[in-house]
Parts: sequence; structure tokens; C-alpha cells
Amino acid sequence: MSAGRDIQALIRKVEVTHALAKDDVVALLRDTHYVEDFFAAADRVRRKYVGDDVHLRGLIEFSNICKQNCLYCGLRRDNHKLKRYRLKPETIVEFAEKAQSYGYRTVVLQSGEDEWFDVETMTYLIKKIKEMDLAVTLSVGEKPREVYQKYREAGADRYLLRIETTDKDLYEKLDPGMSWDNRVRCLIDLKELGFELGTGCLVGIPGQTVESLADDILFFKKLDADMIGVGPFIPNPDTPLAAEKGGTFEQSTKVMAMTRLLLPDSNIPATTAMESLNPQGRVLALQRGANVVMPNVTEGEYRQLYQLYPGKICINDTPAHCRFCITGKILGIGRRISETQGFRVKQA
Ligand code: 5AD
Ligand code: SF4
Ligand code: FES
Repeated sequence: MSAGRDIQALIRKVEVTHALAKDDVVALLRDTHYVEDFFAAADRVRRKYVGDDVHLRGLIEFSNICKQNCLYCGLRRDNHKLKRYRLKPETIVEFAEKAQSYGYRTVVLQSGEDEWFDVETMTYLIKKIKEMDLAVTLSVGEKPREVYQKYREAGADRYLLRIETTDKDLYEKLDPGMSWDNRVRCLIDLKELGFELGTGCLVGIPGQTVESLADDILFFKKLDADMIGVGPFIPNPDTPLAAEKGGTFEQSTKVMAMTRLLLPDSNIPATTAMESLNPQGRVLALQRGANVVMPNVTEGEYRQLYQLYPGKICINDTPAHCRFCITGKILGIGRRISETQGFRVKQA
């Protein structure tokens, strides 16, 4: 059997079984001849398991202050070039109200690891937003289990915490002072506490191999993550990785498509970083396995200041404009905007 037929056979196999050995995942990620067939299979699986509805999540970037120092990230504490901000709780609640008025059914509260937002403040925010009949997703980093438990008791529904990479040595090199084991501990705690669990990885970080990306995808599967966000690493000039190459749009959508094939009923966003590399990035991602978009609902100058990487889209746009813009893109490819809160519907 030729290598070409092997690849096509693998695509057929994973489309039906949603299971694959690591070597086969690697072979598919490396292949360059049948990429369109591979994406088409991911698109069919997306349609079969999660349908044509696209879930919108309104993203509020409420603080760009972070105590961590991840080498790839613009919010790292040693980046003194960045003007820092922290929204007042009342402002965050106001942005959530606006998100609701624009028809969002979920808000995502995202920030750097900012200790100013203690359990009491977060509890207040979660309760306030839950009163608006919105699903609440948190994306605020590593915390002790007790803290996650308080967030959950306050009513938070979901939690996003990317593993970034499953290569422990690489992780600890890129995230100085952080422990990979603790990150996994966080993910397991979150799952046990009953959050819908989101994780994901960066594609194209220096030192990452295709084998390591295959491990990432198999890790998502083993964890049975409910949501998986995959995005290209985009070098930030104000970080130690300024001169690195970064990931490509193509490779990050391949990792995303593979994730769809292996976790067919999960919620997978077309990520902002993908569109930052390709003007059609989110629409293409939606046609290669994604079923979620997370438009920004942060207002004013804060968007510019939440600078994880350069070239971030929508930094000069308003929430109203983004809502309109993304609706056009989604309807334009024959998909629908979901009217539900968009929890994962597990299929046997
Ligand atoms: N390029 C792309 N994504 C990045 N993130 C942080 N820095 C970068 C970068 N330079 C991602 C991380 C983090 C998420 C909030 O942003 O994966 O989990
Ligand atoms: Fe902080 Fe997250 Fe950026 Fe790391 S990736 S520096 S934890 S905001
Ligand atoms: Fe923000 Fe298109 S989604 S401008």
C-alpha cells in the first residue's frame, strides 16, 4: 500500500472510530497531500455531532495584570512596556449586561493571574452575572482547589485553562516558576468540581515537535475535555520570544481538525489568534471543525491593552460592531447562530 493510500485510510478510520494511535496522529499532522480531505472529514464530523449552530461567547478581558511570566505572553509581569488596567467590578457587570443585550448567552471572564480579584470579588461577579440568565465561563488561571470550589458554588459553569503544551520540560522552560504537574492538578480539580472543562494548546512554540502536538491532542481526549482552544503562537516583540518564528495558520487548523475528529462532540472555538494570522481565519476554522466563536465584548481602550500578541483583531472595534460582523460571517457560510447557552451535549 502506498503512503498516500495509508493517509486516506487513516482519515476514513478516524472519521468513523474517533480513535487513533499516536503514530497515526503524527502521520496525519505531517501529511501535506490530503490536507483538504482531512479538513473535509473534520467538517463532516462537526456537522454530524454538533450541527450547524455556532455558539457565541462574549469575552470580557477584565484585567491585564498578571503575576506570571510566561515567555510567550505580552501580559507577563516583566513586560514593563504594557500599560496595565483592572476593570472595576461594576464595569465588568455593565459589560456583561451589554453582552446580554447583544444576544450573547455566555460571558467569558478572562484576565491575567491578578490576585486583586479575590474569592469574594469573583463570587460577587459570578452571582451578579448568573442573575442575568447567562452561562459564566472563567479563564483566570491556576488557583487552589478550594478557590475553584467557591467559584463553582457561586454558579460558574465553565473554566478555561489551556495546558499550553503537554511537554513538561518545554512547559516549565516557557512558563518559568510554574509547575506542569500543578496545571494538570488544576484541570483535574476543575473536572471533579463539575465545571465544563476547557483546555487547549499553543501551536508553533519554539522547541515543540509534531510528536508533542500529537500528545497534546491525545491528552485532550484522555481528559475528555468539553472545550478545546487551539491557536498559533504569535511572537510578541515585547517578550523574550520576540525573534522566534511562531506557528502557522495551517498547522494550527490541522491540530484543531484532528481534535474534532478525536473528540467529536466537544466545543471547539475558531480562535482569535487564527484570524490574526489569516483574515478569513475564523470562517475557515469553522469549516475545519470549529463550532464556537468568542467575540470580544470589552469596550474602549482596554481591548488594545489586552495584548497577548501583536496583530490581535478587533482592537479598534466596538462590541456592537463585532456582533454584527461575526453574524455576517457565520450566516455567510450557511451556518446559524445558536440561541442556547451551548453546553456540550455528550453523545454515546
Ligand atoms: N501567541 C498566541 N497565543 C498566546 N497566548 C499567550 N501568549 C500568546 C502568543 N504570543 C495564549 C495562551 C493563553 C491564552 C490566554 O493566550 O495560550 O492560554
Ligand atoms: Fe499570565 Fe496567562 Fe500570559 Fe502566562 S499566558 S503571562 S499566566 S496571562
Ligand atoms: Fe470584531 Fe469582526 S468580529 S471586527
